[in-house]
Amino acid sequence: SNQTATARAHTNIALIKYWGKTNSKLTIPTTSSLSLTLDHFYTETSVTFQPELQHDQIIFNQKLLSEKQARRISNFLDLVRIQSNCQAYALVETVNHVPTAAGLASSASGFAALAAAASRASGMDLSNKELSRLARKGSGSATRSIYGGLVEWRHGIGDHSSYAMPLSESPQWDLVVIALLFDKKQKQISSTIGMERSKQTSPYYQDWVKQSALDLKQIKRAIHHQDFTSFGEIVEANAMNMHALTISAQPSYTYFNGQTIQAMELVQQLRKQGIPVYFTLDAGPNLKIILQRSNLAAVKARLTSVFGQDQYVVVAAGPGIQYLK
Ligand code: DP6
Repeated sequence: SNQTATARAHTNIALIKYWGKTNSKLTIPTTSSLSLTLDHFYTETSVTFQPELQHDQIIFNQKLLSEKQARRISNFLDLVRIQSNCQAYALVETVNHVPTAAGLASSASGFAALAAAASRASGMDLSNKELSRLARKGSGSATRSIYGGLVEWRHGIGDHSSYAMPLSESPQWDLVVIALLFDKKQKQISSTIGMERSKQTSPYYQDWVKQSALDLKQIKRAIHHQDFTSFGEIVEANAMNMHALTISAQPSYTYFNGQTIQAMELVQQLRKQGIPVYFTLDAGPNLKIILQRSNLAAVKARLTSVFGQDQYVVVAAGPGIQYLK
């Protein structure tokens, strides 16, 4: 087929983290996870399979990638070719819509958009569940970016049972995320490598697997009871437990920098003043503050005075996969 398909996928922030695989080739996670899809940050990708091409051509933010840079995407396209029985190489044009300094560019929105566009372009018409399973094989966090709002990825036991779905119950509170934009200077350890090192070497890894299942159960209970305080406490503790697996790995590493810790202390101070705010962070120094919109003005004022008003961006829940044109 020679059809072009274009899709948009938003990135997501994990509230209950995915940090380790039982099967790396298929991306089967050791634990289930829960995320919030965000508005603002998204990737748009167009795919056309063209019989005349000699290899895949990937244009990322208007730049043609070398074969080496394109390998992970080409490997993913191979899976689409096998599934759709399509022989041609693809022209892929992808644009990341994230603030340049944010360091929030994510494989989650990238592989979710690619899964949607490539499957359509190859002539397949996948359900969201099938799309989630396909995106998973590009990057674990992409499994969840197929859906908007709060999304649960059940770990499953193999390819067929490992996919995401929207959470059945959504909270009544108006959830807002403030992403702090600290630039990461030193080259950091990728999620793929970091989680594998934690799983192989942290003496706390099995405890994490156990605690994570409890966290998921309890956060669902907090949502059911409309209990934002418990919700926030679980989110923050789960993030800290994940990051403990980096510090306790051998060799040890961390995604925190000085500003990350400064911001964590600021969140704790705000709580002492009676404002219910919590934080989480993924494989990078940019802290994300979780709060209810009713407290947004107070928290923004404080962040502006400590870090400056161009050091953060406010985001809300975003939508699932969208097909364009
Ligand atoms: C800390 O999805 O980037 O953001 O599956 O190896 O591509 P791969 O890893 P990736 O890991 C995300 C880790 C995390 C937590 C999360 O998103 O759940």
